[in-house]
Amino acid sequence: MIKPVLRMGDARLLRVALPVLDFDSVELSALLRDMRDTMAHLDGAGLAAPQIGVDLRVVIFGSDDVNPRYPDASPVPGTVLINPVIEPLGGDVEDGWEGCLSVPGLRGVVPRWRALRYSGFDEHGKHFSREVDGFHARVVQHECDHLDGILYPMRITDFSQFGFADEISNGVLPTPTETSTHDIQNEKDNS
Ligand code: NI
Repeated sequence: MIKPVLRMGDARLLRVALPVLDFDSVELSALLRDMRDTMAHLDGAGLAAPQIGVDLRVVIFGSDDVNPRYPDASPVPGTVLINPVIEPLGGDVEDGWEGCLSVPGLRGVVPRWRALRYSGFDEHGKHFSREVDGFHARVVQHECDHLDGILYPMRITDFSQFGFADEISNGVLPTPTETSTHDIQNEKDNS
């Protein structure tokens, strides 16, 4: 079922979400169904359970479909990630544009770890881990931040690169050139 997405200012987005303890529950299956429906409806790149008001450490992101609008994007496989743990790799930080379904219409440049290892559980309770970089790493950091009550504007360091998406695409704000991920976010509130 498509759920309303909470917007920045709603105190429920600021909670530190609780770990999932039961992977076989009807509730978890229903939550994941709602998250997938909501993310697909809004054409998002990712969604965290707190964004639909559910206080659990569950995120989804990516897609197994090829998106013709973003042929240069490194593909991010459709992923369910529960009780995630993130470990930065290498220590490099890179800037990139982000948007968020909870901050509709706006975009900002956010510094993130360039490469990381993430681990957690899939929807069946199976543990897995991956080493990723670039856009994939950015999406994971953005989504996992939601589980700790952090929205991307809280990570912005240069507010000259924060504004309305339609103004940015009109060239009013400067466009960063240092990453290959910045084009991804220009057309939608991604996650
Ligand atoms: Ni978001």
